[in-house]
Amino acid sequence: MHDLAQRFSEFSKSFDKGAPLYSRIAHRVASEPAVLDLMAVAPITQRIPVLLFASAHHLLLGERSHELAQHYPNISLEPGLGDATDLFVAFVLERAEAMKDLLATRSTQTNEIGRCNWFLFPFAMLNAEVGPLAQVDVGSSAGLNQLFPKISYELRPGGMIGDNNALTITCNITGEAPTPQQVPNVCWSVGLDAKPIDVRSDEEVRWLEACVWPDQVERFDRLQRAISLARQHNIEVEQGDAVDDVAQAIERAAKHGHPVVTTSWVLNYLSSERRIAFVDELDRVGTERDLSWVIAESPYETPELPGHRGSDELITVITLVTWRQGQRAVQRLATTHPHGHWIKWGE
Ligand SMILES: C[S@@+](CC[C@H](N)C(=O)[O-])C[C@H]1O[C@@H](n2cnc3c(N)ncnc32)[C@H](O)[C@@H]1O
Repeated sequence: MHDLAQRFSEFSKSFDKGAPLYSRIAHRVASEPAVLDLMAVAPITQRIPVLLFASAHHLLLGERSHELAQHYPNISLEPGLGDATDLFVAFVLERAEAMKDLLATRSTQTNEIGRCNWFLFPFAMLNAEVGPLAQVDVGSSAGLNQLFPKISYELRPGGMIGDNNALTITCNITGEAPTPQQVPNVCWSVGLDAKPIDVRSDEEVRWLEACVWPDQVERFDRLQRAISLARQHNIEVEQGDAVDDVAQAIERAAKHGHPVVTTSWVLNYLSSERRIAFVDELDRVGTERDLSWVIAESPYETPELPGHRGSDELITVITLVTWRQGQRAVQRLATTHPHGHWIKWGE
């Protein structure tokens, strides 16, 4: 329990500026053994502050009139009365059984719409080379990044592209990027995920929302817009495994356009052996048909991937791998913010 209290104290210090509400609550929870005890039901690797926060946020999103909700900037415009940390402790202890159900069964989930910026540039390059594209997004979660041809972008520099006013994301660009003039032509897409999130399920969507920190109001708002767009566009994510199921998804994609596999912050979930098997599988398919792969992963976490070997980089790197007439080529394109806020082309 001492270790867990320590984790909450460290969280509080690390995020006092970036996430003031969670920082204050973490400071309090570090000295609340009854709250720390709730976390004993979580698997050891999941005994982390963000799982407690997401579980409480999940329940609170279902009880928006509760006093505590007035302290969550994403739920209430007016600042609340009373002490948020007192309210938080009382809220979770009064709902101990529901909290334990969530803590025992859930893990934190991210599906970040800002990452659409990562696909915009390589897909525009591929459009120019091979025409309409068909995307297989591996580790797609709720499929929100399959929306990237359907939203608008404010490129700085470069201006606006796209005509969907429902969702615009910003990308700050440095370096000589081949800035697209229009959103890419993607004629078909499918997502593949070990544990897909169904955007049509209010309950599953609520967990995705609960994993966003309440001080990040803009991010929360973008996520809600992305979810409603995904519902409108019937975004499909199938249950499947990155290694075992990618080849059949590529075959289906190839009936519609040039197949492009995308992976963003998913291959770090695989073991080293499975990552090597994933690369081997794409190499096998790439010798039989033309194929492209946009990688947006951390070289440090996934050293087995093309272009990543021997790297100690913790940041996200965008790499384009192509197979043309059986020949593989690897092009490192850019480094980027983990949620896509900026791209440094050519670095
Ligand atoms: C951090 S999320 C990234 C989601 C999305 N690509 C993004 O960038 O926002 C990683 C996703 O990979 C999925 N995943 C983990 N292992 C997988 C596997 N072996 N096959 C398919 N999906 C997997 C998880 O279920 C999770 O939805």
